[in-house]
Amino acid sequence: MPRLKLGVLVSGNGSNLQAILDATRRGTLAADVCVVISNKADAFALERARTANVPTVALAHGAFADREQFDHAVVSELRRHSVEWVVLAGFMRMLTSVFLNAYPDRVINIHPSLLPAFPGVAAQKQALEYGVKVTGCSVHFVESGMDTGPIIAQRTLAVEPDDDEDRLRDRLLVVEHALLLDVLAKIADNKVHLSPDAPGRRRVSVG
Ligand code: GRF
Repeated sequence: MPRLKLGVLVSGNGSNLQAILDATRRGTLAADVCVVISNKADAFALERARTANVPTVALAHGAFADREQFDHAVVSELRRHSVEWVVLAGFMRMLTSVFLNAYPDRVINIHPSLLPAFPGVAAQKQALEYGVKVTGCSVHFVESGMDTGPIIAQRTLAVEPDDDEDRLRDRLLVVEHALLLDVLAKIADNKVHLSPDAPGRRRVSVG
């Protein structure tokens, strides 16, 4: 089985990226991170990539005329590095059809809630404010909406009385890393398939 050629898009800390880098180095994930791209030059995730000797690219979204121009630039970097699958790991930008048409059904995102609950920013805060007893994280194929697209896998986490936003975020990240690696291993094994369901709707089967 050929190794997955990944491009990882980040905006911040990059702990999910680190989980991928560690798994590829350990040999527990049959993948290579070909490039890490950030829309923020000071993202710590870029530092993590450099430490792992992975090529990095910083593209300030504000320097582009519009979202489409930014996406064109990102896509050309991904192609230049022969990327086949794209992972959004804390990437705080919406993608346009320019991007999604360049990588159809090859872009996944990790989100810290049980989608479709609590999309968008501060999902952990939203969950705490709502008072849910169980939350979790989701990995899904990316469509043009905010945190929308067919769900590949989810994992739950019980909210604890001591949880504030930071504590819940940290506890969720541990679950996220495991979920993301599990999904990537299944993609590498060609076990993740999208198929039509109801009109205009697609579902993911795994395994
Ligand atoms: C994670 O909670 C991820 O689910 C969300 O952004 C956060 C990124 O964390 N999309 P990190 O940069 O991977 O540490």
